[in-house]
Amino acid sequence: MLLSQDVALLDYRAPLLAAECVSSFFTGDREKATVLDVACGTGLVSAHLKKMGFHHFVGVDGCLAMLELAKKTGLYQQLKQCLLGHDEISVEAETYDIVIIVGALSIGQVPLTVIRELWDATKPGGYVCMTTRGNADNREYKAELEKMIKALEEEQKWSRVTVVEVEEWERAISEQDSGYISGAIYLYQKSF
Ligand SMILES: C[S@@+](CC[C@H](N)C(=O)[O-])C[C@H]1O[C@@H](n2cnc3c(N)ncnc32)[C@H](O)[C@@H]1O
Repeated sequence: MLLSQDVALLDYRAPLLAAECVSSFFTGDREKATVLDVACGTGLVSAHLKKMGFHHFVGVDGCLAMLELAKKTGLYQQLKQCLLGHDEISVEAETYDIVIIVGALSIGQVPLTVIRELWDATKPGGYVCMTTRGNADNREYKAELEKMIKALEEEQKWSRVTVVEVEEWERAISEQDSGYISGAIYLYQKSF
């Protein structure tokens, strides 16, 4: 669980960086755009997107305590509990202008089978924003994630908008890493 003290301790900037990335490429009507915030946690991603002019948020997370905190923000039209990788995300297909998952695509968290579900929930022409970590423990997962992203690109299901590798993603906390660990943002646009 990432609470505000952890955010400060880790210098956890992923929600802001991902929201800025989406915001800088999104060309549609922000007032009307619908955002699916997957593994929403306490709501940091939607809070940043709200400041950037987005208004309609649906949140999904596996942890009830997180969903309770997210509810308190008053940001979400709907919040759903879903154990990603185990239960299917129970949202309508091809519904969201933006589907975003931050801080949860990593080893021991959300399995990669969710990637096709993220694609499925996105409107044609909509955006999927994903982040992952580049630390030693997560390297294999990151490589598999990139393979899966590429496979969808080869199937012409989406196209790359941008991929941003960030050196100072968040503070290292494991003994294997020191200083800051790296991370990456992947922004893809679903094909029409
Ligand atoms: C590091 S927090 C990130 C929260 C938020 N996206 C942010 O960036 O502030 C990771 C979140 O993923 C959720 N999570 C991890 N594995 C999950 C799974 N398999 N299914 C659903 N949620 C999961 C956790 O409950 C937690 O809220």
